[in-house]
Amino acid sequence: MNQQDTQLTDQFLVAPSILSADFGHLADEIQKVQMGGADWIHVDVMDGNFVPNLTIGAPVVKSLKPTTHLPLDVHLMIERPERYIQDFARAGANFLTIHVEATTDPAAVLKQIRALNVQPGITLRPSTPVERIFPFLPLADLVLVMTVEPGFGGQSFMKDQVAKISAIRKELARLGHAALIEVDGGVNPQTAAECREADVLVAGSFVFNGDAEANIQALKNAKRPL
Ligand code: DX5
Ligand code: ZN
Repeated sequence: MNQQDTQLTDQFLVAPSILSADFGHLADEIQKVQMGGADWIHVDVMDGNFVPNLTIGAPVVKSLKPTTHLPLDVHLMIERPERYIQDFARAGANFLTIHVEATTDPAAVLKQIRALNVQPGITLRPSTPVERIFPFLPLADLVLVMTVEPGFGGQSFMKDQVAKISAIRKELARLGHAALIEVDGGVNPQTAAECREADVLVAGSFVFNGDAEANIQALKNAKRPL
């Protein structure tokens, strides 16, 4: 993927989060959103420690890999993610995003991800100042702005996090570094319209409640001109 081509286009890329899918029929749910125009599949990995919820691990990612041609965008909400990077890379993750708060050496983990030919991503909790991720932007292909407290789907969009998108966009320009900016949490067409400097939208409950194809198209078209 040429990152330059996908930045600040007139449509958002959409990454449905399978956290809101029917876990008994994940392959069918992925097929449904793929047919509906999804660009990536967002996979939320939670360890019951970094966040108070448990979801899935690398074996599930490995089983899902052959069910789709879409990139698997794996969001690691786990303490010390360095312990699991190799497992998720082998399982077929295309993007591996780590939380800056989850490890003592984010730079080393981003390099570890890159060395395994996976695209590294960095993210932060809503309570973490955006400057905390600035040192790691040159090592990242993806920068994820959390607009809810990580841990659960179905929460309300935190509008006060939107300023982080512009701050990251400015810092990337200053560095002359191309990375995609992604937004995750409480995204629907109304809240997406606030995020016009972002490239990729993650949405769980909005996509999977109702007509997935119509919902994905509504998100793609929610981008207002700059
Ligand atoms: C929250 C997850 C999100 C979640 C989004 O910790 O990172 O990806 O699935 O769900 P919605 O779109 O329902 O807010
Ligand atoms: Zn997520």
